[in-house]
Amino acid sequence: MTGGREAVASHLLVIDDLADDLRSVLNWAITFKRDPDIAPEFTPLAGLAVGSIYEKPSTRTRVSFEVGISRLGGHPLTLLKNDIQLGGSESVSDTAKVLSRYLAAITYRCFAHADVEELAAHSDVPVINALSDSHHPCQAAADLMTIMEHFDDLDEVNIAYVGDGNNVLHDLMLAAAILGCDISWATPEGHEPSVEVVERARHLATQSGSSLSGSNDPVEAVSGANVIYTDVFISMGEEHLEHKQSAFEGFQVNEELVSYAADDWVFMHCLPAHRGEEVTDEVIDSPNSIVFDQAENRMWAQMSILALLCDRSAWETYAELMEID
Ligand code: CP
Ligand code: NVA
Repeated sequence: MTGGREAVASHLLVIDDLADDLRSVLNWAITFKRDPDIAPEFTPLAGLAVGSIYEKPSTRTRVSFEVGISRLGGHPLTLLKNDIQLGGSESVSDTAKVLSRYLAAITYRCFAHADVEELAAHSDVPVINALSDSHHPCQAAADLMTIMEHFDDLDEVNIAYVGDGNNVLHDLMLAAAILGCDISWATPEGHEPSVEVVERARHLATQSGSSLSGSNDPVEAVSGANVIYTDVFISMGEEHLEHKQSAFEGFQVNEELVSYAADDWVFMHCLPAHRGEEVTDEVIDSPNSIVFDQAENRMWAQMSILALLCDRSAWETYAELMEID
């Protein structure tokens, strides 16, 4: 027992941790979004606090977690790295053991993915990866929720990702492979996604039937796509890699590139966007852009994830409150 509660140890470090529950998580997220008035009565985190550690800046993740935790009746505690002992005089493992005594869950935005794995290994409460250098599962959950809102049948959706083979692409391809969307990515040579993650996604795709393909050709990736997705070329922590930018010539999502997409194309970006680099104003501000739906959906998707990880019966409670069969 920790802090008077039984230890729970299911974590979300990569989106495939949720593989069996992902469709339900997103269906519940969509239900929460449709019925926001229920929030005052649905309080699975009542009397509990959730802590969020940030080693990097954040707008969407921080605000969507703080508001989402409050909406679930919980108390959000944001812990900026310079304000706590982590990293300086205290190890990740001791931090995990201490915070588990106070908190119902911990979210962690870190540099090395191994750090969030270590936090989870020593935590008695659920740990949620709020972005590491190699994974961004909360983003992928919100992305697939947004695609579900815009397209009736995920099996018919073809996603094209153009840009860096980074944390956002990793969880996007895994989530697409879990839910049956086809995905093609185009990255410059030397900036491809991790071979290990692609193998994991290919394994998941054998069960869902989705098709995965990677190339170095943005036009090939975008041809016939319904969803065009990009992210910054230089991620947080890579600011010193100035030479990296030059590799992305020809990888900008602009009006010419989107002309190869399907007629019903939408544009997605996890944000923040570097306008004029990976995407032009014309595309991100076009009626086809759904980037702010994505940003909003971070909150609904994370509320659904927190409900699942902190209280397995929360969805049933919600169904009773809403009189859903
Ligand atoms: N998309 C995303 O994670 O944004 P923040 O860095 O602002 O949290
Ligand atoms: N790839 C980006 C995502 C930001 C939300 C980064 O890691 O900085």
